Amino acid sequence: MTTVLAIETSCDETAVAIVKNRQVYSSVIASQIPVHQQYGGVVPEVASRAHLETINDAIAQAMAQAQLDWSKIDGIAATCAPGLVGALLVGLTAAKTLAILHDKPFLGVHHLEGHIYATYLSEPTLDPPFLSLLVSGGHTSLISVKECGNYETLGETRDDAAGEAFDKVARLLKLGYPGGPVIDKLAQTGDPQAFTLPEGKVSLPGGGYHRYDGSFSGLKTAVLRLVQQLEKEGDTLPTEDIAASFQTTVAKALTKRAIACALDYGLDTIAVGGGVAANSGLRKHLQAAATENNLRVLFPPLKFCTDNAAMIACAAADHLSRGHTSPLTLGVESRLSL
Ligand code: KG4
Ligand code: ZN
Repeated sequence: MTTVLAIETSCDETAVAIVKNRQVYSSVIASQIPVHQQYGGVVPEVASRAHLETINDAIAQAMAQAQLDWSKIDGIAATCAPGLVGALLVGLTAAKTLAILHDKPFLGVHHLEGHIYATYLSEPTLDPPFLSLLVSGGHTSLISVKECGNYETLGETRDDAAGEAFDKVARLLKLGYPGGPVIDKLAQTGDPQAFTLPEGKVSLPGGGYHRYDGSFSGLKTAVLRLVQQLEKEGDTLPTEDIAASFQTTVAKALTKRAIACALDYGLDTIAVGGGVAANSGLRKHLQAAATENNLRVLFPPLKFCTDNAAMIACAAADHLSRGHTSPLTLGVESRLSL
């Protein structure tokens, strides 16, 4: 049994958690969304400063909630990549300091590996192999999970991430940041067939591309053109219908690729993660298609889908229990493949 304190500061959440293997003892998430809302998106320097101001309190809260003393902690971990460099540095430096101070092993964790491990927190009996569909503000990936540390990326977005597309479409509909939850809400009362939008076909693999790659920038541009045309005609924007049509198009595109990929690779479980896993359209389409194809689809609770440190601690516990550690000279990387 391995108990880990982990820190996640790759973007706009200051998160600290304590996890024993797949059991969460505490999970503190201080969201910066209100701070960034006024700018319409995440401002990297503002994020770093906010992490600095919050990190010590978040660590103290996580320790208090878990009701453990340092002697019970077997290792300290932090997200080291990918993400905003200044933001990552705050969490990584705090984790290294704690490791030195309390004489514990230290481990840097890849953010996407954390998102994969999030599923174990609500499905502790799950074991590889399975397919992970990660859909967040920064990533859209289909990953074959083979075992701890052994992953194969089978599909990615070639341009915008799914959540990024939601945020950009919300911005052009003047709905604020983050866009996903607002579009999801408006889509409930809109007609998903009101407008036909492109699903974003991509050319066949080659040149480093994968077979199950997708693209969302064409869809985003199509929504922009639609809005411009409707505005030119002087109509009131049918925001609900645009939201519903856009959301359904994204959901169908992701579902199609995830199901095809799972079937082709003989993987009977799809574990979904990332903020867009909260999307009601994606949940509905993917669940229906999975049932039709005798596949199991797992949607963890939202608190483990969006950025959190429990998922990082869970991944770190698995690695540390296998004797994996990182040197204290480990740095951060803004981009790093899994
Ligand atoms: O995983 P996450 O919290 O952070 C990243 O690692 O990026 O994902 C944030 C993204 C944002 O783009 C947000 O708009 C999107 O998840 N999101 C949603 C929903 N809730 C959050 N997108 C669609 N529908 C939702 N209900
Ligand atoms: Zn994330």
